[in-house]
Amino acid sequence: MGTLIANGTVISPTGRIAQDVLVDGERIVALYIPGTGPRDGHRVIDATGKYVIPGGIDVHTHLDLPLGGTVVSDNFETGTIAAAWGGVTTVVDMADQHTGESVYDGLAEWHEKAAGKCAVDYSFTQMISTLDDESLKAMDYLTEHEGITSFKFFMAYPGACYSDDGQILRAMQQASRNGGLIMMHAENGIAIDVLVAQALARGETDPKYHSFTRPPELEGEATHRAIVLSKVAGNVPLYIVHMSAAEALDEVAEARHNGQNVFGETCPQYLHLTLEGTLDRPGFEGAKFVCSPPLRSKHDHRNHRADLWKGLRMNELAVVATDHCPFCFKDQKELGRGNFAKIPNGLGGIEHRLELIYQGVVAGELSLERWVETCCTTPARLFGLFPKKGIIAPGSDADIVIWDPNRKTEIGVGKKHHSNMDYSVYEGTIIDGRIDTVMSRGTVLVENDQYFGRPGHGKFLKRGLCNYLA
Ligand code: URP
Ligand code: ZN
Ligand code: ZN
Repeated sequence: MGTLIANGTVISPTGRIAQDVLVDGERIVALYIPGTGPRDGHRVIDATGKYVIPGGIDVHTHLDLPLGGTVVSDNFETGTIAAAWGGVTTVVDMADQHTGESVYDGLAEWHEKAAGKCAVDYSFTQMISTLDDESLKAMDYLTEHEGITSFKFFMAYPGACYSDDGQILRAMQQASRNGGLIMMHAENGIAIDVLVAQALARGETDPKYHSFTRPPELEGEATHRAIVLSKVAGNVPLYIVHMSAAEALDEVAEARHNGQNVFGETCPQYLHLTLEGTLDRPGFEGAKFVCSPPLRSKHDHRNHRADLWKGLRMNELAVVATDHCPFCFKDQKELGRGNFAKIPNGLGGIEHRLELIYQGVVAGELSLERWVETCCTTPARLFGLFPKKGIIAPGSDADIVIWDPNRKTEIGVGKKHHSNMDYSVYEGTIIDGRIDTVMSRGTVLVENDQYFGRPGHGKFLKRGLCNYLA
């Protein structure tokens, strides 16, 4: 018995079409004119008045990651359950290379952490924090044999995972030969460390100083430098992660207009939140909102949020991911009491990306098609998962979300919140739409506000090369 999703509107980057969708086993097998799909012998889900979209793909998550003197609060089980609740059917998590240790050991550790735990399909990007000859060779091996085709580097965090310009250039040259995608955390960490030390010396220790010591200009400068290095390395595909600043967006837009293979990612936190009302909350509450790059001020000389929405609309930004890196307030964010530089960096949000970007559709910031493109289809294409993932089409995995535009979602602890966190940065946010059904490879994970998934349903995905350039 298969499943017929009847009378819904299927959304893809190229348009919206009323169609019946037939799922058999793990795959979508056929699309029909509405009302003509075969009902006999199949379960029928009536999607009248609803959107039928591909399962979301979150290409930037941190599960079970040791960071900032603690370990993020979601492991592969809790994090992927929250993902499923949010209509995310594939996560690409960042496998850590412990500084000074081998890339292969880091990857093996990540496989061990994830195996048998995931509710949704998963893959890894390899983070590289020690870029030496062995790591460069490992990039070739992972690309060719392990289905790990993306690598993240850091221009921030000197003394930890930081790579200097020479190391980054060498990694980019390696990627220009092996076809890997270079992902970059673009902030000038050397300059930031000076500003942090100066602020602490002045007694400026509250969470809000985290933002003031990481100014947008230093995100723009690092983005510019990464783009120049990628050009020198032969126009190697470069993907700038978690973009927060208009200055950085200008650089990506200019590079794209000049024909460079540069792609930008932003995250819901930078589209919805500002420093005001978050990092500047009284007492130590602001710690809940510490992430890097930081939330930007609405009184800045640039309107970062408006520019990022525009960038998404205009395809200057290609992808929305979450950079899900959750910590509890109690005992975790609290590690930084009295010194903002010791607050573990990162926010949780794996569950809320489709919801928060859909709210941008409601507000007129972008189209339904662009919602699907930035959250589902382009991530699949950039990360070598298309057309298995990221599209509703015969032959593709039956990763499907049924979205009801006539219901509402209230985000918050005790409301909709499944991540292992004792708070939500989106507490109280109301979304004008709600997920009805989430299906992963033909198996229903979420339906009518109930969870039917299980740890171990999610399979590791060996990925191909970035096919956006093909
Ligand atoms: O604050 C953040 N973004 N934490 C996660 C690690 C990273 O840099 O992506
Ligand atoms: Zn980063
Ligand atoms: Zn990250």
